[in-house]
Amino acid sequence: MAERNILKRGDPTLNKHCRPVTEFNDRFHTLLDDMRQTLAKSGGVGLAAPQVGVLRRAVIVLETNVEEGEEEYMIELVNPEIIEQDGEQVGAEGCLSIPGEFGVVKRPQHVKVKAQDRDGNWFEVEGEGLTARAFCHELDHLEGTLFVDRASRMLTEEELKELGISEDAD
Ligand code: NI
Repeated sequence: MAERNILKRGDPTLNKHCRPVTEFNDRFHTLLDDMRQTLAKSGGVGLAAPQVGVLRRAVIVLETNVEEGEEEYMIELVNPEIIEQDGEQVGAEGCLSIPGEFGVVKRPQHVKVKAQDRDGNWFEVEGEGLTARAFCHELDHLEGTLFVDRASRMLTEEELKELGISEDAD
């Protein structure tokens, strides 16, 4: 496993549409392993393949809604699609590719996603709150869409301070 470099806004790769994953081979598993390590190191809650320069439909989301005493865990979503969504949440959102900036983005409160795992098996997974936001945010990356394209406005420096977010936070 190796940590990979996260592309930053301005890199044209981040604005491109990603192609489906068709080969669930060792090379692809290495990509996912590297993405896991990169996400763990970053302190973020999600990472999409295009952020590490690979234009394929694969993302990793950290499930943070766990019972007390249980560990947060990463969910790998390959060729994911949102098949159900409901509710609404309006809140601050950031991105590892746009460090230090946060915007107000409206997302569904709950989503159900259909995806393949790293071996190509289809499954469904549901996300609530922050996890639903992360699913939507990461799937947007696969279409070349960044949260700044959806934000109603960006947070001011004052607001970032109130939230306790420092300039160099992810
Ligand atoms: Ni992002």
